[in-house]
Amino acid sequence: MSNGSDIKPTDLRGILKYVPRFQGQTFVIAADGIIVADENFSNILTDIAVLRSLGIKIIIVHGIGHQIEQLAKTRNIPITDVQGTGVADAATLDLAIRASSRVTHLVIEGLTQNGLKAALTNAVRAAPIGIIRGVDHQFTGRVDRVDKEFLTQLIESQVIPVMNPIGFDRDGRPLRINSDLLAAELAESLQATKIIYLTPHEGLEINGKLQHQISAATLRTVLDDRPESINEPMRSTAAHAVKAVETGTPRIHLLDGRLLDGLLNEIFSNEGVGTLIHGNEYQQIRQATKRDVRAIYNLTRQAVKREELLYRTQQAIEKNIEQFYVFEIDENIIACVSLQLYPDKSRYAEVGSLYVMPFYHHRGIGKKMVDYACLKAKERGTTHVIALSTQAYTFFTSVCHFEEAEKEILPDSRLKAYDDSGRNSKVMVKKLCGWANPPYEPRLVGDDSPYRFKPSVPRSLGSRPSNPWAGRRRPPRRGRACRRRRRLSRKAPRPR
Ligand SMILES: CC(C)(COP(=O)(O)OP(=O)(O)OC[C@H]1O[C@@H](n2cnc3c(N)ncnc32)[C@H](O)[C@@H]1OP(=O)(O)O)[C@@H](O)C(=O)NCCC(=O)NCCS
Repeated sequence: MSNGSDIKPTDLRGILKYVPRFQGQTFVIAADGIIVADENFSNILTDIAVLRSLGIKIIIVHGIGHQIEQLAKTRNIPITDVQGTGVADAATLDLAIRASSRVTHLVIEGLTQNGLKAALTNAVRAAPIGIIRGVDHQFTGRVDRVDKEFLTQLIESQVIPVMNPIGFDRDGRPLRINSDLLAAELAESLQATKIIYLTPHEGLEINGKLQHQISAATLRTVLDDRPESINEPMRSTAAHAVKAVETGTPRIHLLDGRLLDGLLNEIFSNEGVGTLIHGNEYQQIRQATKRDVRAIYNLTRQAVKREELLYRTQQAIEKNIEQFYVFEIDENIIACVSLQLYPDKSRYAEVGSLYVMPFYHHRGIGKKMVDYACLKAKERGTTHVIALSTQAYTFFTSVCHFEEAEKEILPDSRLKAYDDSGRNSKVMVKKLCGWANPPYEPRLVGDDSPYRFKPSVPRSLGSRPSNPWAGRRRPPRRGRACRRRRRLSRKAPRPR
């Protein structure tokens, strides 16, 4: 029976699994001036209300380029710069301030309509860019300082700070700042986990090809070596995105803000709808050395006592130290994993000795260690990774996407050791997909596996939510947008 709502329970489950992960995190949402003027913007504000209700801290930055151009045209005033990166003369600054007031008003009006508290602040102190290569940039500024405490207080009081691209210098004089830069600086200062740039483009295109995801390091190389392969103005956004990753913001999303449900689909679906620019997920993981033997032994001792891990002497760890990888925080080892290649079954490797210190549980470190081991296994030419576990098998199946398998999958020597141990561990396997350099987890391709897999936890819970918050005003279904939505639904999964 229909209850008049479009929400399906599976949609909610798909979204709710992300909630513990994102709760308490800060997202900077940077909307281009064109997006604020678009009819879909009211839906974006409703989506922001949804994010707030899920405990995600939001800060909004908006651009004004589109509005400056319009004002200049209607008033017939020549302007020297639109994006906040060139030379802003007094007339351009004046138009920027007027455009800014109008756009901020629209944003706050929309947030108010959605029952959200918002505040325009002077939390950003600006400084003039100054003279670059002999050219005085006059009223164009950069971020000099962010009043983090002030912004944090607002956010903790359930107020959404609305940041416009006009900052004030020490003496209170206004300066025009590029909004992409502003978003990156705010994200760094507030230790945000994401910046979401809402642009009038599908995402980042390199040589006309839409990038579904790209590492900041790769993008940095493209920007340095072949900048012309990225069209302006996305080049500038891409450069700021790379800078943001390099200064500590792990993920940057570039997506089309005119796309209905785009923001929610980008955050709450594996596929995403735009471009994800990410840092190196694995930079805290390194190969263990002999100096780490004692630390690994001590780290895993408690798990051995609880029979979660097999006992290994320090000598045994030392003998096979090249099999171990460790996760370090402030030079302390807080997690480890091992990867053993089978001499008599060269396409298979075994992941083991997985341990994360309890204080660091539930932060994704365990999964990251397994993903890293899979990556290393793949680099060494294996196609399958096996895991044996007595107590954490659902971690391997539900979180790391292994499949249960028969023990006969083990090579003979390992099977004998398995039987002799009497532990009766469950055996799980993951087939690695064919990415040359997977940025995240090598995916399981279970359907064409030569092995009989036992059924594991259904993965339907992770399905892409479809229109989870219906009932909002839909912009007319334009032909291009419809085609794009259909195309997106065919894209490969992209872990968030
Ligand atoms: C299993 C273990 C490595 C997970 O580490 P972690 O960093 O907390 O894992 P992640 O953050 O990547 O994933 C967390 C999710 O894994 C699942 N999970 C964690 N431990 C689990 C376990 N023992 N059994 C089943 N699922 C488990 C939970 O669903 C959890 O989700 P939640 O955060 O929403 O509650 C860690 O609990 C551990 O070191 N346990 C003791 C040693 C052990 O059992 N090792 C495996 C031997 S093969």
